[in-house]
Amino acid sequence: MLIHKMKRVQGEITVPGDKSISHRAVMLGALADGITHINGFLRGADCLSTIDCFRKMGVRIDDNGDSLTVHGNGLHGLRAPKVTLYTGNSGTTTRLLCGILAGQPFDAEITGDASICKRPMGRVTKPLSLMGADIENEYCPLIIHGTKLHGIDYSMTVASAQVKTAIILAGLYAEGETVIHEIEKSRDHTELMLGAMGADIAVDGLTVRVGKTDRLAPQDVTVPGDISSAAFFIVLGAIMPDSEITIKNVGINPTRTGIIDVMKAMGADISVFNERTEGGEPTADMAVRTSSLHGTEIGGALIPRLIDELPVIAAAAVFANGKTVIRDAQELKIKETNRIRAVVDEFKKAGVDITETDDGMIINGGRTIHGAEFSTYGDHRMAMSLAILAQLAEGGSTLDDASCVDVSYPGFFDDFYGLEK
Ligand code: S3P
Repeated sequence: MLIHKMKRVQGEITVPGDKSISHRAVMLGALADGITHINGFLRGADCLSTIDCFRKMGVRIDDNGDSLTVHGNGLHGLRAPKVTLYTGNSGTTTRLLCGILAGQPFDAEITGDASICKRPMGRVTKPLSLMGADIENEYCPLIIHGTKLHGIDYSMTVASAQVKTAIILAGLYAEGETVIHEIEKSRDHTELMLGAMGADIAVDGLTVRVGKTDRLAPQDVTVPGDISSAAFFIVLGAIMPDSEITIKNVGINPTRTGIIDVMKAMGADISVFNERTEGGEPTADMAVRTSSLHGTEIGGALIPRLIDELPVIAAAAVFANGKTVIRDAQELKIKETNRIRAVVDEFKKAGVDITETDDGMIINGGRTIHGAEFSTYGDHRMAMSLAILAQLAEGGSTLDDASCVDVSYPGFFDDFYGLEK
C-alpha cells in the first residue's frame, strides 16, 4: 500500500473501543450468571477471536450492530469445546483463556496463527501449574486438562497484565486464596470489572488477592475508546504542521496513560478534558496540537503504562530534537513481532539514527528522513506507526501489508486520511 502524505491534519475523531476491556467484557460476561450488554465493543480481529472461542464453549453471544449481548453461562456453565479453540493473532485471548480453562471439568486445546505459535506461554502455564493446572506445552498448541486448582502466593517475574489476569481468573476457581505480587503496576481492567461483578477480589498497591468465587453478577459494560489507538493520533497531531486533532471518548485509566505523560514530557501540546467515569473506567476527551518536541528518557514503572505505544512513541522521537532513550522495554521483543528489532530495522530504512539496545532503543531525532518500502511484519501497531513515520519523510513510502491494522483498528486508514485538511 502506498502511504499518502498529508499536508496538515485537523478535525475530530472517535477511536474504536478498548481492546483489553472488550476482551474482558466478553470473557467475564460469559462467566456471569445472566445477560451482559456491551456497548462500544471493539470489532477487531482479536476480540472477534475471543467471541468465537466462547461460542465454541456454548455461550450465546448476539451481535446487535450497536451492542453485543452475552448470555452468561455462569462460572461453572462452560461446555467442553468440540474443536480446537483458535485465538488467531491474539495474545490476550490465548493467555486469559489458559487461566479460565485450567480449572474447568473438561479438556481443551488452544492454538493461534504463526505469530501466536512463537509467543511464550510458559509465563502463564508455569504459575498456573503451581496452582495445580495440567497444561501441555509452553507454545501453542496448548492442551489444557481441566482440573482442581488451589490458591498460591505468587511473585510475578514480568510486568504483564495478561499473566496477572490469567492467575486471577484461575484464582476464581481455586480452593483458598490466591495472592499475586506485581513488580510494576500493569493495566487493572480485570480487577475493576471483577470487583463490580461481586467477585472476591481486593487490590492493595502491587498486591492482588482473589478468593474462590461462586457467582459473578452480570454488569453492563460501556467500553471507552482505546488509548492505544488514540496514541497514533496524539503523535500525528503533535508532529504535523498547522494541525489540531480532538479525540473523543478515550479511556484514561492511570495504568494506561503513560503515552500522555511521555508526550507532555517531550513538549507536546495536549489537553485532556471532560473527564468522567463510564462503566467504572475513567474516560475523557483530548486535543493535541502541533508541537515542538524534544527527546526524553523512558523506563521503569512507566513501561507497562505505555508498552503498546512504544513503536509510535519511537516515531515521535524521530521528529523530536535531541536524544530519546527507551529502556526496560524487553517485553517488546515478545509482542506480535519483536518490536525492538522491527522498529529499528524499519526506521533505519528511512535513514533514522536509531540503535537497538538489549532492552530498548536510542533515537537521535530532529534529522531529515526519507521514504522507504516498509515491512509491517503482520503487526498492526507496526503498520500504524510506520504510516505516521512516513508522513514527514521526504519522498514516498509503502507498507507491504496494511490489512493487519484490522487486529485492533479496522478503519484506521479512513480515520487517518479523513483528518487531512
Ligand atoms: C494486554 C496486556 C499487554 C498488552 C496487550 C494487551 C491485556 O500485554 O501488550 O496488548 O489486555 O492484558 P502484556 O500483559 O503481556 O504486557
